[in-house]
Amino acid sequence: MGGPITVRVPATTANLGPGFDSIAMALSLWMTVGATPADRWSVVYEDEAMQGLPTDDTNLIVQTIGRVVRRAGKKDIPCTLRVTSDIPLGKGLGSSAAAIAAGIEIADRLHELQLKRKEKMWFGASIEGHADNVTAAIAGGVTVSFYDGSSLEVLAFDAPDIGGVVLVPPVMMKTGDSRGLLPAQLDHKKATEGSAASSLMAAALATGDWPLVGRMMDRDIFHEPYRKDRFPDFDKIREASHKHGAYGMTLSGAGPSLFLAVPAGREDEIARTLETAFPYYKAIAVRPVVEGSSGN
Ligand code: HSE
Repeated sequence: MGGPITVRVPATTANLGPGFDSIAMALSLWMTVGATPADRWSVVYEDEAMQGLPTDDTNLIVQTIGRVVRRAGKKDIPCTLRVTSDIPLGKGLGSSAAAIAAGIEIADRLHELQLKRKEKMWFGASIEGHADNVTAAIAGGVTVSFYDGSSLEVLAFDAPDIGGVVLVPPVMMKTGDSRGLLPAQLDHKKATEGSAASSLMAAALATGDWPLVGRMMDRDIFHEPYRKDRFPDFDKIREASHKHGAYGMTLSGAGPSLFLAVPAGREDEIARTLETAFPYYKAIAVRPVVEGSSGN
């Protein structure tokens, strides 16, 4: 007990279209957090982009550690946390889920709690309020989750052999603001279609049928229709994505980034092509990763 401890957590893209609040995939961008016991809690962000985040005990990583530790009935061990990250902040790539997963991992190691993966995921879902990003951040690969605010069911499977392109706009968007665009109710017939798209996409993900995953990624009715107008050239980018061979394109989580699933090995080329065509967005080529949160 007592550190120092270093944990690493991947970025995640949630929903993949119709898998709203349920499906997510871990991507090859990482947040690393070092924890060293100290007299009081403090957080040092090494990256320019993360300046302005709370650095005291109101910080999300610190709050998460506190919540897990209190629930385990242990005494607080204050630490200095040093954070580096190449996960764009506030861009729909799971930066807050990564912070939460990092906090859970640090609490587990610092206090030798030996939490099971499912318990870590439950803590994560209960803090974030939905299970998609945080389950993939913890498990890696692809996760399909059911979370109703109390019970959690998760199926995790390996990272698929595909490429990914993330189109990141210069603006940030808070998940809460993006969720505020959603309707309170959905027509029953439409909801049935949405559920079918989500189920079929999950089955296609499990069997590795990416052309079918891609077709279903384009068929969300739960959130995309209410959000997409906020993102310049959304329809044109979808059209261009298909023209250049992407399996599918959708919002990454609640936005504002867009995510394209593309054939393995074509992610760099498609990223460059789309960045040239749509210079408002910065294109980042990624790969799905099998590793979830881990540490030493
Ligand atoms: N499923 C969530 C949403 C992901 O779309 O609002 C954001 O964290």
